[in-house]
Amino acid sequence: MKIFLDTASLKEIHEAAALGVVDGITTNPSLLAKESGDPEGILVEICNTIDGPISGEVVATDAEGMVREGRHLASLHKNIVVKVPCIAEGLKATKILAAEGRRVNMTLIFSPSQALLAAKAGARYVSPFVGRLDDISTPGMEIVADIIQIFDHYDYDCEVLAASLRHPMHVIEAAKMGADIGTMPMSVFTALLKHPLTDIGLRRFLDDWEKVKSQMAASRR
Ligand code: E4P
Repeated sequence: MKIFLDTASLKEIHEAAALGVVDGITTNPSLLAKESGDPEGILVEICNTIDGPISGEVVATDAEGMVREGRHLASLHKNIVVKVPCIAEGLKATKILAAEGRRVNMTLIFSPSQALLAAKAGARYVSPFVGRLDDISTPGMEIVADIIQIFDHYDYDCEVLAASLRHPMHVIEAAKMGADIGTMPMSVFTALLKHPLTDIGLRRFLDDWEKVKSQMAASRR
């Protein structure tokens, strides 16, 4: 499964990129609003940091405006993927942008039927929002499973991008289901690596090695 970070923080992106396991970035207007600086400049710097798909979202709500913004975003850098909301105008815009060869990430997907329509419109990625469904007592992961099952029957050139992942178990569940991509905030990414037994085990190895070194030094005296 490809791992994307769901952030527009250059600090976080630089830190995570150094580990060499981040495949792409998803941003949205809310994430960019948290950062200071020109949003387009931030997107370009993200693209120059991570050589993978970087989602930048349109804010127009009519197809014509979405297409205009999408073309502009895509012109900023070859890595940009145009994020378009899953509404009727978004489907129209996706059809046009996809026909021009631009990659679209259809976002704000909360049902398998929305994902099916997004794939048919030519979206390159569909983003079901797991955590936000969980927030309203609806099992978000089931939507991801349904989408994967549907896509398995057909040849859509469309990847399932499990989004709104809120904790490591969401990531594991998405990977077990075979989601193509999981996007997560830095806190969840960091939690994927941490294990107290790893820390305890490493401390013990290092302490024991210190003992070996002391014994060797003593035997040379
Ligand atoms: C991804 O593309 C979405 O922007 C993101 O995962 C939404 O996550 P949230 O529900 O935690 O805001």
